[in-house]
Amino acid sequence: MSFLLGIDIGTSGTKTVLFDEYGNTIASSVAEYPLYQPYIGWAEQDPEDWWMATCSTIKQVLSKSGIDAAEIKGIGLSGQMHGAVLLDKEYKVLRKSIIWCDQRSFDECRQITSLVGSGKLIEITANPALTGFTASKILWVRNNEPDIYEKVNKILLPKDYIRYKLTGEFATEVSDASGMQLMDIPGRKWSDTVLEKLQIDKSMLGKLYESQEVSGKVNKKASELTGLKEGTLVVGGAGDQAAGAIGNGIVKPGVVSSTIGTSGVVFAFSENVSIDPLGRVHTFCHAAPNTWHIMGVTQGAGLSLKWFRDNFCIEEKRTAELMKIDPYILMDKEAEKSEPGCNGLIYLPYLMGERTPHLDPNAKGVFFGLSAKHEKQDMIRAVMEGVVYSLKDCLEIIKEMGVNVSEVRASGGGGKSPLWRQMQADILDAEITTINSSEGPALGVALLAGVGAGVYSNLNEACDAAIKVNGRQPSDIELTKKYNKFYNIYKSLYGSLKKDFIELSAALSN
Ligand code: XUL
Repeated sequence: MSFLLGIDIGTSGTKTVLFDEYGNTIASSVAEYPLYQPYIGWAEQDPEDWWMATCSTIKQVLSKSGIDAAEIKGIGLSGQMHGAVLLDKEYKVLRKSIIWCDQRSFDECRQITSLVGSGKLIEITANPALTGFTASKILWVRNNEPDIYEKVNKILLPKDYIRYKLTGEFATEVSDASGMQLMDIPGRKWSDTVLEKLQIDKSMLGKLYESQEVSGKVNKKASELTGLKEGTLVVGGAGDQAAGAIGNGIVKPGVVSSTIGTSGVVFAFSENVSIDPLGRVHTFCHAAPNTWHIMGVTQGAGLSLKWFRDNFCIEEKRTAELMKIDPYILMDKEAEKSEPGCNGLIYLPYLMGERTPHLDPNAKGVFFGLSAKHEKQDMIRAVMEGVVYSLKDCLEIIKEMGVNVSEVRASGGGGKSPLWRQMQADILDAEITTINSSEGPALGVALLAGVGAGVYSNLNEACDAAIKVNGRQPSDIELTKKYNKFYNIYKSLYGSLKKDFIELSAALSN
C-alpha cells in the first residue's frame, strides 16, 4: 500500500492529512494561528506560524497513523493563494505576509492598470488588477515600505514558503502562480511583458512547475523537524481552489464544482484557455496538466448566512446548543417553511463588496422586496437563495464562454445542507452531486503527489481511484422556471443600485 500526504496552509490553520492510495483518510491534524488585522481592510499572517503549524501537524499525523515515514511516497502542498512572502538574501522573512483578503492595494491596482494597459492586462494575466492578487501587494510594499523592498531577494506564495522550508527549493506551480498576476496565463509561464512593465526581476520568483511535477525532496533539516524521511518527493501542488477542485474530481469537461464556504466559488474545468474580455470571472491555469479553469467568487456566501445567524438567530443558537446540533440545521428547517422565491423577497449577498462578476468594493448587502407579511423564515431562505443567485450570475458567464455544464458537485457548508443543495439544483438548473470525501484541497494535492511519485499513471486515474459520487439531486423544471423570474430581478438590481452604492461609500467616508 502507498501513502500520500496532503498539506493545506489555510487562513485559519494548517491541515495535514495522510491518505492511502484509494483516497481514504488515515490520519489528520489541524493547527491554528492568528490573523493580524492592524487596520480595517488589512490582513497579515506570520509565515513562521505556517511553518510551525506544518511541523506540528506532520508529527501528529505520523504518530496518530503509526506508519513508517518511509511508506509516504509523495507530498503535495496546497494553500491560501495570493499572499506575498518576502525573503532577504539570507532567505529570512522580511515582514509579515500580506494575505489574499487584504484590500489595502487599491492605488497599486490603478498603477498596474496604467502601466500594463487594461486590455493587455486581461489578455496576458486573464484578469483585471485586483487588490486580492499578489502583484498589487508587492507594489504596495515597494511604494510604502521602500526600506523593506530594497532588501527583497525572493517572493514566494504561502505554500511555496513551506516548500522552501521542506526542500530548500524556490519553486511554485502554475495554478497558484496564476493568482500572482505576473503570469502569461495562455502560455503557462512568467510574463516578461508584465514583469518588465512592473519592474519586478524574474530572478525573485520561484521556478515554475506543472502542479504534478516533482519540485524537490525533503532535506535533512526538515526531516529532523518533522519526522518525514529525507528524500521524500514534494510535488508542485496547487492553490487551494484548484486543489479543492481536484479533490472534487473536477478534471474533465462538463463537471463544475460549487463550494459554499465563507466565500462561494463556482469552478469549471476547461481544455482550452478562455478569457472573459470584460474580466468578470477569473481564468487561471488548472492543476491538471495543460488545462485551465474558470472561476467565479462570491465574497460573502456562507458569510452571509453566518452574519444572519449571529445577529438574528440567537434563539436558534441557544436551542441548537441544548440539542447538541448545528444551528444551521434549525435555520434550514425554518427556511423550508417559506417557499421558493420567498414570496418576492430577494437578497444581494454583497456584505464584503464583490469580486465576480461585479468587481466592486462599494457593493453592499440588500434585502429587496420586503413587505409586512414577510417573516424570519423568508429572510433566512432569501439569504440562501441570494447566495445561489450570485453563483448563477458567474456560472452564466462561464457558460457564455463555451463551457458545458452537465453536473455541479456541491461541497462546503452549502454541500452539507440538503435544502441548499436542492436550491442549487433548481436555481443553477443542473444535477447536483456530492462525493465520498470532504478533504478537498488536502486530497487534491495528495493525488497530485501520487501522480508525481508514479503511484498513478495520470490525474484522471488518480481521481477515479479516490473519488466516488455518493449522492445526486436533479433539478425540478417547474421550480427552475419559478426561480428564473426572481433571478432576472436579482440580476438587474446591481445595475440599478451601483450608483447608490458609490454614494453610500462616499457618505460613510466623509
Ligand atoms: C482564491 C482566493 C481564496 C484564497 C483563500 O482566489 O482568494 O480561495 O486562496 O482561501
